Amino acid sequence: MKKFLKIIISLFVIAAIAYVATISYFHFSYPQTKWNWEQIDTNNVSFPKDFIWGTATAAHQIEGNNENTNWGEWEKLSGKIKDGSNAKIAVDGWNRAKDDIKLMKDLGVNSYRFSLAWNKIEPEHGKINEAALQHYDDLINDLKADNIEPMITLHHFTHPQWFQQLGAFEKEENIKYFVEFSKLVFNRYGNRVKFWVTLNEPNVFVTSAYFNTVFPPGNANAKLGGEVLKNMLKAHVQVYKALKSVNRPSSAVIGEKMTNDREQNIQIGLATSIFQFEPFRRWHLGDWAIARSSDAIFNETILGFFRTGTLSFSVPLETNFVYTDLEAPKTIDFIGVNYYSHFAYKFDFDFKKATQSIAVEGEELTDMPYTIYTEGIYRAIEEAGKLKKPIIITENGIADSKDDRRGKYINSSLYAVSKAIKDGYDVRGYYYWSLMDNFEWAEGYTQKFGLYEVDLQTQERKLREGSKAFTEIINKDK
Ligand code: BGC
Repeated sequence: MKKFLKIIISLFVIAAIAYVATISYFHFSYPQTKWNWEQIDTNNVSFPKDFIWGTATAAHQIEGNNENTNWGEWEKLSGKIKDGSNAKIAVDGWNRAKDDIKLMKDLGVNSYRFSLAWNKIEPEHGKINEAALQHYDDLINDLKADNIEPMITLHHFTHPQWFQQLGAFEKEENIKYFVEFSKLVFNRYGNRVKFWVTLNEPNVFVTSAYFNTVFPPGNANAKLGGEVLKNMLKAHVQVYKALKSVNRPSSAVIGEKMTNDREQNIQIGLATSIFQFEPFRRWHLGDWAIARSSDAIFNETILGFFRTGTLSFSVPLETNFVYTDLEAPKTIDFIGVNYYSHFAYKFDFDFKKATQSIAVEGEELTDMPYTIYTEGIYRAIEEAGKLKKPIIITENGIADSKDDRRGKYINSSLYAVSKAIKDGYDVRGYYYWSLMDNFEWAEGYTQKFGLYEVDLQTQERKLREGSKAFTEIINKDK
């Protein structure tokens, strides 16, 4: 009996030591960095002379008349959009493009990130709408005339309904349609547009559509989600290669170094979303397990793929695969980082509950279900920095309808970016999300991210007070 007790106690002690060791490992490897903002002078920032300052939008969220798409169809289903709205008119960006450029000019930005509505350019497979192509021609020319460098996103969550009906990125054989489209628009605009983003946030696209089902096709299927992610990353690699080989000069022979100006100037990247995932309780192994596996699924799949050439996707009990393309790290000229905030996870025996992210306690909330955690943009840059590629912050912003936190968010985010640059990270630009209020996907029009407030009745745009924090910093040394 005594011996038995001894064994039990020993096992208990071993388990306790193992528990403490594991928790300590996590605790020290993944610190939840907190800065003492009271003691930080957020005016103490400096940016390189040639820094890219921009604002970002996406076609579906601003243009209007985007019905013939996966999202247009989704919006017709009841209960999908929080306020029952849709993007039929959105903020009339298509018709107001010239005026909106004037708004950018007033801000003082030198770049604009926007996406192309594939559905408008190619409403049916193989049928090209010249007027739509011309629209973006004009947009690009008007931007350039005002010294605003365009950055084009080829896919920002939406695609034509015909592509959706074929299975979109669920099927590998559909990648070719996206490559064809990308080549088409690159042939048209590549002589004027230097910055290209192939895909916006494949991680948000996949988790929102195949895990949380708040994006079309709303299919809770992690295995399929993994397939989609893999196909999207394959699509990125193919698009990168296709665009880089367009218009090779006749003098370029195999083995000779390319001297094509256009090839060297064109910068092609992918925008990934980075959120930090924290354990709700830093001493709880269950919280850590969910936080770390969420990080692996959401952040590391994409960052790891471009860092190492290996995509490893694992959702416990659902799917698990490894896909390797060792050329992947060579197919990205810059990594686009979209950063908003961080989340926490609390273990629960109910799996559904346990995998629901919650806002980190003790921090000020934005209007979205997450907090203001701007030191996180520094952490995101640290992570992206491991790719050893230039970094562009392709999105960062706050939903703040009262406009009582926007200024603080901008100042502290830009402080963190400036510190990252001082610390040696190669950050080349920053795009505020968004130029103006717009259709925030499943949230409808309830979330106000805009530097400009939009009156949805009159479509009038008005600069928000809090946005001046942005214009002041970007115009400081002009
Ligand atoms: C998306 C945007 C969206 C923004 C704010 C990003 O994930 O790229 O389209 O509006 O977040 O939620």
